[in-house]
Amino acid sequence: MNHFELREGELACEGVPLSRIAEAVGTPVYVYSTATLERHYTVLRDALLAAGLKDPLIAFAVKANSNVAVLRTLADLGAGADVVSEGEIRRALAAGVPPERIVFSGVGKTEAEIAFAVETGVAEINVESEPELHLVNRVAQGLGRRAVVAIRVNPDVSAGGHAKIATGKAENKFGVSFSEAERLYANAANMAGVRPAGVACHIGSQITDLAPMEAAFAKMRGLVERLKREGLPVERLDLGGGLGVPYFNQPEPPSPADYAAMIGRVMAGLDVQLAFEPGRVIAANAGVLLARVNHIHERPEGRRFLVLDAAMNDLLRPAMYDAYHDIRPVRPRVGEAAPYDVVGPVCETGDTFTRDRDLPPFEPGDLVAFMSAGAYGAAMASEYNSRPLVPEVLVKGDRFAVVRPRPTYEDMLAREQAPPWQ
Ligand code: LLP
Repeated sequence: MNHFELREGELACEGVPLSRIAEAVGTPVYVYSTATLERHYTVLRDALLAAGLKDPLIAFAVKANSNVAVLRTLADLGAGADVVSEGEIRRALAAGVPPERIVFSGVGKTEAEIAFAVETGVAEINVESEPELHLVNRVAQGLGRRAVVAIRVNPDVSAGGHAKIATGKAENKFGVSFSEAERLYANAANMAGVRPAGVACHIGSQITDLAPMEAAFAKMRGLVERLKREGLPVERLDLGGGLGVPYFNQPEPPSPADYAAMIGRVMAGLDVQLAFEPGRVIAANAGVLLARVNHIHERPEGRRFLVLDAAMNDLLRPAMYDAYHDIRPVRPRVGEAAPYDVVGPVCETGDTFTRDRDLPPFEPGDLVAFMSAGAYGAAMASEYNSRPLVPEVLVKGDRFAVVRPRPTYEDMLAREQAPPWQ
């Protein structure tokens, strides 16, 4: 459930009509709902508690939505943060996430990033390979510290979904095999600069079938049990993120309750803290991208283009993954639906949000909302075609605030400088 609904004939975010935001901030603009973020977090947390988990660590995947105001909304409810760069650690800290609730993942952490994470005192560094384990050991020793690490396992399962976001197959770059993990864990226990505290996995994103997750999690449980039998202490098992969300015409994802119940079943009686790294399931349906129709261009060949002021640089998912986002008029007009190609102003054909989609009638100047855009939307935006970075607005009840302003053209140019010979 989300808080984007028609109120008096117009799409509103909680108590704020979207047209008010468009007038105040201009378009394109991302709009997030506080109530929806809070609801998604608490539904997931309550489902995990109801499934019998004790004190789960729910580390929001910052990559899905890295706006500090969004992170603070979740941190205020007790959320941790799953981060993949020093920039994301800094964002999480700026949002008030305590270091002991920060999990640092990623296949290519630099020495400087590892040092920063160790000095920050993050909950765990998820180590993705043997060279990385040695690097963390060396860096932490250099700082006179012992870094808490988890070994990331690649469980070699196929989770469905788009190939570009599958992470759990042996051919993907993430993590090590189960046998490698056992060996590395035992080695790590004898290293002066690291303390192995757990194991981690993440098999993909927008997963709509619980079966591959269950298979992977059962294997992870087996690994924890083997490690414990070898006398190696294991405190935490990190099960990653990946739970899908409804993108309207897409396969229905499992509910958080079903997901949690499955985990409760698979992990029953296992004495470890469970950690989670959900991104999309919390943020996707808590945000929309609001845009305006520039014009409607009808080609003699019969195609009808809805040309918007938002483009692939603002919302990359359709161009990158052929992703489907529901497209809704903010003030629906009465009339027959007709097929449209919805495009942006960027100079490439990939700048197409959808083709041949039946949509209600539009007129130039109308506002449209891309639904389910709160995850991997603004976070993946760029300034391609020198379009200023898309702003972000957070709504709470009948109030709204700009939480990332649109840069001016002066701001954009001021970031660059001339070489001495010009
Ligand atoms: N943990 C790790 C280690 C991850 O790599 C990811 C996502 C997550 C957690 C969060 O996954 P989620 O719960 O959001 O599915 N840009 C793509 C999605 C990329 C996901 C990358 N990893 C998209 O727009 O669909």
